[in-house]
Amino acid sequence: MTHLTTRIIREEHAALSAILRSIPMLLASHRRQGTLPDFAALRAMLFYVDEFPEKRHHRKESELLFPKLRARTPLSRDLLDHLDEDHARGGRRIRDLEHALLGFEMVGEPRRQAFEEATERYVNFYHDHMALEEQEVLPLAERVLTGQDWIDLDEAFTANRDPLTGHEAEPDYRALFTRIVNTVPAPIGLGSVSCAASTHS
Ligand SMILES: [Fe+2]
Ligand SMILES: [Fe+2]
Repeated sequence: MTHLTTRIIREEHAALSAILRSIPMLLASHRRQGTLPDFAALRAMLFYVDEFPEKRHHRKESELLFPKLRARTPLSRDLLDHLDEDHARGGRRIRDLEHALLGFEMVGEPRRQAFEEATERYVNFYHDHMALEEQEVLPLAERVLTGQDWIDLDEAFTANRDPLTGHEAEPDYRALFTRIVNTVPAPIGLGSVSCAASTHS
């Protein structure tokens, strides 16, 4: 049986992954058309990454899941150190990416490539990070954590669910999520980034 926390982590990874994949697609589409992107929509997407994956998802992993794993097994300590370090540097990385976006918005064309490259580095970094958690950490957790560990984790991980995994957004976040859902393509959203990327070549 897969525990609720494991399912929530995988769902939140899928939502983050969909957002991350949509940004380079959107940028590639605008590059081909020689147009500038909707900067407000891009700012909303990066703000979401900071509010949910950074401040909630990764924090719960580092503060709750990883300490329980360290307490139950000596296995994978180096890997957990590596992932904790990724989490610790995450705030700085998203801030750098937001700054590169601001540069593109303020300066225009001369900063397009720098933002595209910064986005690609960020997306690759997080895909590698999430793949390690899914392939190494979650299977280990399923093997070694106790029933009480899972009760504690399930309680924490069911609070502040990511609205992009199908849960209603808290009132303060509704406008933000409406904007994102209208920009990001299915299955997370209603936007047509992928169509634009494939038809306007
Ligand atoms: Fe993480
Ligand atoms: Fe994660």
